[in-house]
Amino acid sequence: MTADKTTCPFNPAEDGAQMSFDARMSYGDYLQIDRILTAQNCLTPAHDEMLFIIQHQTSELWMRLALHELDAARLMIAADRVREAFKMLARISRIFEQLNNAWDVLRTMTPADYTRFRDDLGQSSGFQSWQYRLIEYALGNRNPAMLAPHAHRPDLMEKLHAELARPSLYDEALRHMARAGLPVPHDLLTRDIAQPWQAHDGLRAVWEVVYRDPAAHWEAYELAEKLVDLEDYFRRWRFNHVTTVERVIGFKRGTGGTSGVAYLRRMLEVRLFPELWEVRTSL
Ligand code: HEM
Repeated sequence: MTADKTTCPFNPAEDGAQMSFDARMSYGDYLQIDRILTAQNCLTPAHDEMLFIIQHQTSELWMRLALHELDAARLMIAADRVREAFKMLARISRIFEQLNNAWDVLRTMTPADYTRFRDDLGQSSGFQSWQYRLIEYALGNRNPAMLAPHAHRPDLMEKLHAELARPSLYDEALRHMARAGLPVPHDLLTRDIAQPWQAHDGLRAVWEVVYRDPAAHWEAYELAEKLVDLEDYFRRWRFNHVTTVERVIGFKRGTGGTSGVAYLRRMLEVRLFPELWEVRTSL
């Protein structure tokens, strides 16, 4: 009689699985799982607070990866290795897609569920996410007013100021295009990079040249579409956020002190790469 495979307990050791880790690095050791899984310190007994914490923490982890990719993509573009940057830019878009899908989990939290622990959050808010601000700065939305919530943390101020002193993704893309022979307006190449981006007609005209004949400017065209893709996914994140916020707190003020939905709707108007959107109208 042969053993019933469905009921007979299978021992993976017989298949070669390593089962002893007293002197070896395990999965948990490598990934520091204990540290991660002891960082969910709920302040209330409210059931949904765990969801709220994990949703934010996982978002921060994905943002960490997005920053890692944004840093590397800029280095690649600066070294005129744009093809390698394309892969990273595509990955950042996928990270935002991942973050966009995550809202579906948070949306299962009703206003009544959130009310059970909202007061205990005090003044804390995603508005104070320094990684989010770094991403915005790296993408070119460089509002220096957003530094203030981090003034009490010199280490974070240093990171944010260092980002403002570095060319944004768009700045690097334009410098690369100029090196490749496209007539990027000189004032854009010498602009004060710490300042927010200002839409520029001369640059729209350059993108027009690229979009009218993609085959002749394939690399710039592909770079442009990667940037549009990224902004598209980023905008969806903003939209999903404000919709979730309206669904959960209506028009109450945010814990961070802003007008809440009205503030977030204003942020929907931010355009990271304005000329790349405008060029669509001119074609
Ligand atoms: C029920 C869930 C949520 C509510 C009610 C909510 C509410 C808000 C509100 C009202 C603001 C405006 C600032 C303020 O006054 O507080 C804000 C900003 C922000 N939130 Fe959320 N949020 C939620 C979930 C999340 C999640 C999961 C993340 C992921 C990290 C997040 C990240 C942010 C960021 C980055 C900002 C700043 C946006 C900007 O300045 O453009 N939020 N949130």
